[in-house]
Amino acid sequence: MELNDLIKSFRTEKELNASPRPYFNHSVSFKKKYTADERMETLKRAGLNVFFFPSEMITGCDFLSDSGTTTMTDEQWAALHLGDEAYGSNRGYFLLAERIRETFGKKYFNDPGENRPNAFIFHQGRSAEDALFSLLGETGQNLIIPSNGHFDTTEANIRANKIEAKNLFSPELKDENSSSLFKGNMDTIRLEKLLAESRERVPVVFLTITNNTGGGQPVALDNIRAVAAIAHKYGIPLMLDACRFAENAWFIKKYETGYENKSIEEIIQEIFSYADGFTISFKKDGLVNMGGGLFFQDNGEFLKKYPDLPNRLTDYQIMKEGHPTYGGLSGRDIMALVYGLKTVTREEYLDHRVGQVRDFGDAMAKAGIPVLSPAGGHAVYLDINRFFAGTAMKPGDFGGIGLSALLLALYGHRACELGYFAFGSYDENTGEEKWPEVNYVRFAVPRLRYEKQDLDAAVAAVKALYDNRDKIPAVNVVYGKNLTLRHFKARFEFR
Ligand SMILES: Cc1ncc(COP(=O)(O)O)c(C=O)c1O
Repeated sequence: MELNDLIKSFRTEKELNASPRPYFNHSVSFKKKYTADERMETLKRAGLNVFFFPSEMITGCDFLSDSGTTTMTDEQWAALHLGDEAYGSNRGYFLLAERIRETFGKKYFNDPGENRPNAFIFHQGRSAEDALFSLLGETGQNLIIPSNGHFDTTEANIRANKIEAKNLFSPELKDENSSSLFKGNMDTIRLEKLLAESRERVPVVFLTITNNTGGGQPVALDNIRAVAAIAHKYGIPLMLDACRFAENAWFIKKYETGYENKSIEEIIQEIFSYADGFTISFKKDGLVNMGGGLFFQDNGEFLKKYPDLPNRLTDYQIMKEGHPTYGGLSGRDIMALVYGLKTVTREEYLDHRVGQVRDFGDAMAKAGIPVLSPAGGHAVYLDINRFFAGTAMKPGDFGGIGLSALLLALYGHRACELGYFAFGSYDENTGEEKWPEVNYVRFAVPRLRYEKQDLDAAVAAVKALYDNRDKIPAVNVVYGKNLTLRHFKARFEFR
């Protein structure tokens, strides 16, 4: 038989429907061994707050966050050695400028020699947010910033500057029967109504891609375009919270009509062409452990509306972060980011990355566990209201907290409550709790870190808890019920 015919007589790799990972482990870390009793003892000492549980004792998967938890590539580790720690204009700064232009569009990083600053590097996303919102907060009274879903620290930074943070979730997000693949969209009807009634109170419109607070769900290009058109009609700039821009672009390529033959790079450029600027935490789709930024489109609506802001931002940066050419990052961090931004747009990386999260979500759903389905790009979200439906668990029992604590103590996996406790608030005057629209426990999957075997173990653990959900105890809040950002600080006990 001819070699060509021989090859054709076998099934192709694609037909096998079982492809290897597009990378292999370059270096690994062994875990220590701990028993469930030891974990429970330690967790009780931490007041059942999983944030205070020592990560060294996590024998399963650490799903607390996908932020800054990526395993870097060998290229990135090598690039660290090329870090230039000069105080001004380090080598990586120029490489990063080029990479930002290549990734998001030429207009997002003006040549430093032109003295028209529009690109601001920060040490992480929230410091970029603080810079932006503290300056915007000075532009008016009773301001409102609408979003398809503000992240918790974003919302906190907005509120700290006396601006109202408004979430305009898509109605499909809460509709269990909706087959929409873009449940992260903004509700454009509510946006139009808000701007028609109160345009002078809205300094910017925000769109978070993907929508972390909204179940990690993606936003369609169609929605991005529509939101931009509405905002611009009322003379308001559109900003993206772009932490997971590459994962969002992958969803557009796979599921939005007309984009199947476009490259990920082309889709990203189109997304950012509609925006006037963006905040970003590079700890997600920058594939680095630290880094953030604030970027404006040259000649975009934002800079037209706030022309003196770049100068004030530069002052802010110099006072709080460092010279604008390193902006709170070490030279080696910048070099790792230059390479991370390149890897993250590779289609085979994204196929694996988002595919892994989806498979994890599908495995949970197949086991009968109520998760937001299909899963978004970075995390699987347990729907806590459905999880405890039919049991005695009440909203004030904070079932998501009890469930996360037991999962960690019994099985060594750390997930994070993002629901009635994290997003709820306690009113000291009425003594009542205000419940948010969503009630989840989030399993954020770190990038390039875990294998199927790890995730299968987590599914089995959640299934064991689900089968015994009647036995999951309620919790008392022993400290911090009335605090802001309370989930980071509070302490609990099993009731
Ligand atoms: C959507 C979103 N925006 C902003 C942030 C804040 O970024 P950072 O953690 O780098 O401060 C996060 C981080 O988790 C996020 O998920």
